[in-house]
Amino acid sequence: MKTSEQLRKDFIEYWTSHPRNFKEVPNVSLIPNVDSTLLFVNSGMFPLAPYLGGQPHPLGKRLVDIQRCLRTNYDEMIEIGDNRHTLMFEMIGDWSLGDFTKQEQIPWILDFWVEVCGMDPKRLYVTVFAGDDDAKRDTEAIEVWQRAFAKYGVKAEFTEDINNIPSNLEEGANWPYRIFPYPKKKNWWERAHAPGELGGPTSEMFYDMGFIEKEDENYHVNDDSGRFIEIGNNVFMEYKLSSDMKWIPLEQKNIDFGGGFERVAMIVQDKKDIFETDIYESIIQKVEELSRKEYKSDGKDNEYTRFFIILADHSRAATFILADGVYPSNKDQGYILRRFIRRLVRYGLKLGIDRNFTKDLAIAVIEKMSYAYPNLKENENMIVDEIEKEEIKFRRTLDKGLKELDRIKNENIIDGKMAFYIYETYGFPFEMTLDELNIAENDAEILETEFKAEEKKHRDQSRAGAEQKFKGGLADASVETTKLHTAHHLLLAAMQKLVDPNIKQKGSNITAERLRMDFNFDRKLTPEEIQKVEELVNQKISESLKVERVEMPKEEAEKIGAQMEFGMKYPDVVSVYVVGDPQSILDSDWNSDEIFSKEFCGGPHVQNTSELAEGVKRFKIVEQENVGAGVKRIKARLI
Ligand code: ALA
Repeated sequence: MKTSEQLRKDFIEYWTSHPRNFKEVPNVSLIPNVDSTLLFVNSGMFPLAPYLGGQPHPLGKRLVDIQRCLRTNYDEMIEIGDNRHTLMFEMIGDWSLGDFTKQEQIPWILDFWVEVCGMDPKRLYVTVFAGDDDAKRDTEAIEVWQRAFAKYGVKAEFTEDINNIPSNLEEGANWPYRIFPYPKKKNWWERAHAPGELGGPTSEMFYDMGFIEKEDENYHVNDDSGRFIEIGNNVFMEYKLSSDMKWIPLEQKNIDFGGGFERVAMIVQDKKDIFETDIYESIIQKVEELSRKEYKSDGKDNEYTRFFIILADHSRAATFILADGVYPSNKDQGYILRRFIRRLVRYGLKLGIDRNFTKDLAIAVIEKMSYAYPNLKENENMIVDEIEKEEIKFRRTLDKGLKELDRIKNENIIDGKMAFYIYETYGFPFEMTLDELNIAENDAEILETEFKAEEKKHRDQSRAGAEQKFKGGLADASVETTKLHTAHHLLLAAMQKLVDPNIKQKGSNITAERLRMDFNFDRKLTPEEIQKVEELVNQKISESLKVERVEMPKEEAEKIGAQMEFGMKYPDVVSVYVVGDPQSILDSDWNSDEIFSKEFCGGPHVQNTSELAEGVKRFKIVEQENVGAGVKRIKARLI
């Protein structure tokens, strides 16, 4: 059996070898550094986003990577529990930045599925964009797919009728119709519907799993029956949304392919379920050991299977988020992490695990994944400590919930709203409330209806809030955000010069209103230090320094002392932003004292620091916070 480790190697090897000769882009942190509109990195294209619009990538135009990803919206959350959906996953991806076209991508990806992954081409089905007022039908993709399938002796007819596929089709039968058209809703990709966003028609690929999970009257390859599983998507990213929200052709025609690593491993390893692959094996085994229950009974789902899946997914998510430097908290990424850990505890209880166990799962994740993510092993002690601390805290909260329930029992005031309050405040699961209060079946139904109504109300509110906050668009390159990116570089340099040369950036987030920088330091800055740092930044703004993007080998960038973000992996050739006097920059005299700041960065930035003072603005530090052991946070604005 091909292991997931081997599959990982094979994927990279396939794209980096002749005749493709791609370059591998490093897998980046789950926590977006520059994309302030996104909570977690949610697709492989994320590190490529700045380059899809035309800016040259230091590694060239043919790129490949495997990227850790996390999707956390509610609809995705409830899908967890079937054989193929997870919140945490890895995306395999390949890109053309205005280089090769679908004429190459389609046969290459089919060869990859068949020759490297050993998939049966007769079990592969594809979809194409049907065409509308914005863009025409993708007839080119249809033709290229037909040729590509013909290489394997497989007939691939196109049919208008997406239902032209019998539900009793034998697995792997040579059904002639395997190319189907879908409208925008299914076969168009965009990250957010906002001006400046890139997008385009897609061509998705599905594998016939041979069994139907959920009967669907209107049977087709992109339905929810579970028979056909999506393994990847080719996005022909050739359009851009104009300011009046019309799709206009993009000068640089890109290809963005993304596939699900776990799903591909499932097919490669001939499993019916991603949780049976070697990726999850040790985690599932650990849960079996802790709960003394079986993941499956005689190879079939049992009443516990879903809880196993939630534990397997959430333990990976929590471990990876911690490894990327986020601690449980009540805000943003920290809050999502907290929810993952709480759900671990709650679903653990459903499996009868009532002792602290989250660290055991974290260790299983670390052991399994460190070969690809050494930051897991490097941060093992911290991860184990933090996950357990949060678990203990939550168990105490659950105890308080029990006491609150006792009070309610005595006062006889239980209704669905109250049950929801207990759930929200103490994380106390609804079913436990029913058990604790010995609610009769009839009353339980009423209570559940009330509880669900309350939950829906709450969810709609928080979803509306989250959508406002994290639109998930491409990096915000608005004028104000761009200025704050440059201010961020000036701030780091000023702190190193005035406060401590060992200060390193540990994360950042920039919106149009403010910049936020996390850095290693064991105390807060004094008011005098803050004043001096502000003065130096403002002085550099008034000196009208030039801001220049330079590409250089990583080694050279390190030699000249360019600042890297702590814990980030960078490719062999990097883009460095330097801020300094124009002459030194012209002379490429990177060690000159006249260069104020040098940082590894993808941009965007202003061209001259004087732009930061437009509107008679000055740089000001507005907040300092503690965000974890030895990590401080500063927020600053131009006001
Ligand atoms: N970026 C594309 C996706 O996420 C490939 O589906």
